Amino acid sequence: MFDNGHISVLLFMKKIIIAIDGFSGCGKSTTAKAVAKALQYTYIDSGAMYRTATLHFLNQSTNLDNLEEIKQSISKLKLEFKRNGKSGVQKVFLNGEDVEHAIRGMHVNAQVSKVSKIREVRNQLVEMQRHLGHSKGVVMDGRDIGTVVFPDAELKIFMTADLDIRALRRQKEMLAKGEEVPLELIKQNLSERDIQDSTREESPLRKADDAVELDTSHLEFGDQVNAILKLAKERMN
Ligand code: DC
Repeated sequence: MFDNGHISVLLFMKKIIIAIDGFSGCGKSTTAKAVAKALQYTYIDSGAMYRTATLHFLNQSTNLDNLEEIKQSISKLKLEFKRNGKSGVQKVFLNGEDVEHAIRGMHVNAQVSKVSKIREVRNQLVEMQRHLGHSKGVVMDGRDIGTVVFPDAELKIFMTADLDIRALRRQKEMLAKGEEVPLELIKQNLSERDIQDSTREESPLRKADDAVELDTSHLEFGDQVNAILKLAKERMN
């Protein structure tokens, strides 16, 4: 990892926004979390926000084909990030309830792309994301962070990785949380989401012109974090 001397210098430099976009399962969130921790920045998982909105719609039995129902339902969405005092780990809460685990299940996976295509949902969440990043010192990951949410972010990363490698990583992640899912099913879900995320009309996933592309297929985790920290240091100057 980055040596501590280096990091302590970075902590006193100008605060910036780091936007990390890319396909599902590229390791964006683990990387973004580690970068935020090293810089003592706030990490914001925008995917968790779309997942939480999806869970809210499922809980409310909202008809996702009925815009009026969606508008009604989303007006009742209360989404918060809270940091656990002891561990410092950030969790997402829906209407006061910790849903960090519930939003990662296959139930939500199956619907989240459909939800994230809805303009009214995106408008509300993007507004919240901009508010969360208004003081800078933020690492946010998602699909449209460098293109729509923070088009002026000082550092934009576009992460990619081979589908097979992404599926294996996602399977391991889910297993660690006690959910055993066949690899083929994960691969299918990831590839469907790739297509939906990059071909949708509303804020499709694409690399911003000024983003740096980082292919993590064969990178060690520490190396990908270091690559971003190195770029961050350049942009803070
Ligand atoms: O990063 P993730 O897999 O947790 O994201 C879940 C879904 O949310 C994904 O299918 C795309 C969508 N999403 C989005 O449309 N825009 C974002 N900024 C973040 C996620």
